[in-house]
Amino acid sequence: MKPRRLLTSIVPIAIAAAALTGCAADGAGAGAGGEAPASDDALVVYNAQHEQLTEEWVAAFTEETGIEVVLRNGNDSELGNQLVEEGDASRADVFLTENSPAISLVENAGLLAPVDQATLDLVPEQYRPSSGLWTGIAARSTVFVYNPELLDESELPASLLDLANASWKGRWGGAPGGADFQAIVSAILELTGPEAAAEWLSGMDENATVYQNNIATMKAVNAGEVPGGVIYHYYWYRDQDGTEENSANTKLHYFGNQDPGAFVSVSGGGVLKSSTHPDQAQQFLAFLAGAQGQEILGEGYSFEYPVASGVPAKQPLPPLDTLDAPAVDPSTLNGPEVIDLMTEAGLL
Ligand SMILES: [Fe+2]
Repeated sequence: MKPRRLLTSIVPIAIAAAALTGCAADGAGAGAGGEAPASDDALVVYNAQHEQLTEEWVAAFTEETGIEVVLRNGNDSELGNQLVEEGDASRADVFLTENSPAISLVENAGLLAPVDQATLDLVPEQYRPSSGLWTGIAARSTVFVYNPELLDESELPASLLDLANASWKGRWGGAPGGADFQAIVSAILELTGPEAAAEWLSGMDENATVYQNNIATMKAVNAGEVPGGVIYHYYWYRDQDGTEENSANTKLHYFGNQDPGAFVSVSGGGVLKSSTHPDQAQQFLAFLAGAQGQEILGEGYSFEYPVASGVPAKQPLPPLDTLDAPAVDPSTLNGPEVIDLMTEAGLL
């Protein structure tokens, strides 16, 4: 009996199980348990980005470089907390997040190595922290999905903050349990301060219907169960590009005006200080931020925004620089404080 072989065979099963959930942050991830890597030479990536996207990246990277990659899939907070617990003993070489608060958590624990300057140079400053300890690799925009049969264009909220007003009671939904929505709350916290954020969250608790994830929110709006919902843009574009079964009766409203509701969330990538393959880990990050990795975003199924190497967004997405997003330094977004505030508000 060779334990390593046995454990190796578990890895693809874990990945397949997680892939069924679609979004690591939105579903029950397979966790990043103690499975052994395929070999000591393989890069171990703790992955909280959508599995399908990361699998596309990994396949192209391995084909290009011959470097084998093992994915441990989970959601943002699960893997961020696991890395902090594991500390220097972690087997992870690279951490990829869906949103930036989880990678800031690992950065603040002192566990990340500086990203190669050549990689940072590929990414405009607004999509990475000034520390240079990780970099943005993708971006996603907050949007309000609505059902025009239930909500006239003239009634659309001017600001995300309006959704806490009594007039919105029972008229919108969201998925507060997911890392995507929690990143939006982290932007509200950063832009309005803790008191206003707490007040907004108690308004949300009063007004909003809670859904399991972004897709469930969009489906409910599409079915006319609720007039509107707060989601990320790519769920809608993917459905429109496919069968439209969950979005045919809906439209998107972009808040713009540097409103908290126009928040653009950055997916992060970083190399662990304790990595035993630091060169290959840096190579992987350079690949993601480079033209090939970004083109997978610009041309693949994902509909997330490329942020680096000048690669344009997939049609028919509005260009990222036209969304009038609020300026938020991704390294200031405070994941743990958001969890506390949302728990106090009764949303978690
Ligand atoms: Fe997502």
